[in-house]
Amino acid sequence: MIGRSAQEKVQSLPDLAPLIEAAQSSNVMMLSERAIDEILTLVPTERTIEASPAAPRTAQATLADPESHSPIGRTLAPVVSTETTPAPRRHGLSHYSLDDFPMEARDVDSEIEIHFDITGHSTTEGKMFDMKSFFSDRLRQIRQMMIVGSSLPRRPIGNSEAWRNRQRYSSTDYEVTLVGLVSETRWARSGNFNFVIEDETMQIRCSLKPPSGASNLHPALDGLMDDDVVGVSGHFLIRERDPLFLANDIHMPPLGRHSKATASEEEAVSAAFLSDAHVGSKTFLSPQWEKMIEWFRTDPLARTVKYFVLSGDGVDGVGIYPGQQRHLAITDLFNQYGELARLLEGLPDWVDLMILPGNHDAVRPAEPQPALDPEIQQDYSDAVFVGNPCDFSLHGVRILSYHGKSIDDFVAGLRSVTYSTPELAMMAMLERRHLAPSWGGKTPLSPEPEDRMVISTVPDIFVTGHVHGHYAGNYKGTTMIHSSTWQDQTDYQRMLGFQPKPCILTVVNLHTHATASIPFA
Ligand SMILES: [Fe+2]
Ligand SMILES: [Fe+2]
Repeated sequence: MIGRSAQEKVQSLPDLAPLIEAAQSSNVMMLSERAIDEILTLVPTERTIEASPAAPRTAQATLADPESHSPIGRTLAPVVSTETTPAPRRHGLSHYSLDDFPMEARDVDSEIEIHFDITGHSTTEGKMFDMKSFFSDRLRQIRQMMIVGSSLPRRPIGNSEAWRNRQRYSSTDYEVTLVGLVSETRWARSGNFNFVIEDETMQIRCSLKPPSGASNLHPALDGLMDDDVVGVSGHFLIRERDPLFLANDIHMPPLGRHSKATASEEEAVSAAFLSDAHVGSKTFLSPQWEKMIEWFRTDPLARTVKYFVLSGDGVDGVGIYPGQQRHLAITDLFNQYGELARLLEGLPDWVDLMILPGNHDAVRPAEPQPALDPEIQQDYSDAVFVGNPCDFSLHGVRILSYHGKSIDDFVAGLRSVTYSTPELAMMAMLERRHLAPSWGGKTPLSPEPEDRMVISTVPDIFVTGHVHGHYAGNYKGTTMIHSSTWQDQTDYQRMLGFQPKPCILTVVNLHTHATASIPFA
């Protein structure tokens, strides 16, 4: 049904199909002028697509379900042409100038230094003792960072010592600081944020009133992840029931402005970042891959690309989720890796490949994940296989690459993070100096005696993938990249209302840290 005032608006549309689809899916029965305006902000039009050719098309096509508490409605897959046209030269990226590259990548020797890779170094037996050691080590590492980096108002004391002296510490004159692992987070009806912190000695129940004027990213409003390590300062409230620790403030590890290392001018080469190719899936975007290979062969900018980092989910895998079989074009796992090898063979010989696993790959899912099996590696003539995460340097530029499975937990755990803003999860990881804090969530963790998911060194480039978005930016001095996928929207993503941003190669000049996002869709 359509309101009379809206008729004119509808008549001016070149194509009614997206509007009707969106209205039906959003359960809009009466197309008032306002409803049409709202839907049109979601339906991609020629004008909005043309306005941002490089930007991924976020084709949200329905209004959000008011019951869902999600700002995102269902989305429609964009109509993707299978015809390939050459990618436009330089993509208007005047800041990513060839003048910044005195040498070509083929003339620069490869320089990869691996700082951390679990491959061959996993020692856990998964016993209770290992779990204890894993969390104690995390607490020790991050508490030490807080003390050395002066992010606490005073030296912390142990929970049991504070508890013993709770009468004394119940006065606001005796503020005390504690550091521990977080659990049982919830908001009280009053708006206070309640949680438990636990150190080696005991658990203490805490309550934090959101400070007036606090930003949405303040933990009291945004939340904390289970098993985060935080500091709290405040005092005890002695009452008949269990005493409560009233936190005046919450303290995260230090994260100042990072000063990035750069490759020297003679080593001014680029690193290209991609993840989630999902080769073997029916929705792998084959023509667009050919277009990228053509770009590598013909575009002068490609001659600056020395490294190609594939951060997990290179193949779609087999048996990763129920019913996956019917979404597969290649149903044999080894054939999937064989096809990925064939596709990567198309890259010019001056490009060095680095391959990490992700949650779709044929290695243990528990993180840190080791590199792919030597049997699989045989298909690849020239690639460096590393684990996930991997901390490494290219020409002195420190890179932390993590597939990003824990973004699922950050979306569930923090109010600010959504699947369309993975960069907020990445910022949250840097702020808490941990890639995947929560045990028992969606990210399987291996309880190594040392917690290697702690971000001990702030990277110059931090890269993740997994949620099939795209982002290139900067956070407190670290170049942040959420690398793009080569898989079109899947049925599952369509059901969730998620629109991926496929076929964007992110390229970083290691000398200047200028970034270019090159679209091949
Ligand atoms: Fe993926
Ligand atoms: Fe993934």
